[in-house]
Amino acid sequence: MHKNVIVVDHPVVANALTVLRDRETKTAAFRQYAKIVSTVLIVEATKTLDTHPRQVVTPLAPMEGVELSKEVVVVPVLRAGLAMLFAAQDLLLDVPVGFLGLERDEKTAIAREYYQKFPGRLDGCRALVLDPMLATGGSLDETITAVESRGCSDITLVCVVAAPEGIDRVFQSHPNAVLYTGAIDERLDTSKYIVPGLGDFGDRYFGT
Ligand code: PRP
Ligand code: URA
Repeated sequence: MHKNVIVVDHPVVANALTVLRDRETKTAAFRQYAKIVSTVLIVEATKTLDTHPRQVVTPLAPMEGVELSKEVVVVPVLRAGLAMLFAAQDLLLDVPVGFLGLERDEKTAIAREYYQKFPGRLDGCRALVLDPMLATGGSLDETITAVESRGCSDITLVCVVAAPEGIDRVFQSHPNAVLYTGAIDERLDTSKYIVPGLGDFGDRYFGT
């Protein structure tokens, strides 16, 4: 596997993923467990952020604390990436958000862009790209290209489940990206769904 792929090995992630994979799981539980798994994955994916010293005065004494050095921008891939955005906003309270709307064609599985709104240039930022499912890699390939075109070269992808085919495609085009995922599944089926996967994440999360 590519050196920049990190499978987050954590019992809370494994437990949450099992609930998400269960076809009997209803919308309310799916949403709750999506937030749990996203939270742990984003905590792991932000572990390498640089900090610098910051003086603080506690109720008892002055001390040297830290603050984040690099500006982070979060990029959820619409629609399903919204499921992970709420967790990111709880952890990075004032983080700017850039949106890319992509939808896979049901027959060809090729992603079509329908929306884009970014907070200006992203030079010097760490972009955290959120998309729960990495299947063929078409959506993330396009998203990374959009983020790079705004000047960002420090890109971390956070996915709940990834397929080997998608990982290969993304890292062939963007070898310097970093991926944090909850699992790498076996393969894609003939409709380009991840097997065993969890089905259509967006449909299950939004109840469509
Ligand atoms: C799903 C998923 C990813 C994409 C992955 O989105 O959320 O964005 O498919 O597939 P790929 O790696 O083959 O591109 P979908 O297009 O179904 O739209 P949605 O988020 O609106 O459900
Ligand atoms: N998108 C999903 O939501 N699930 C898959 O298995 C593949 C793409």
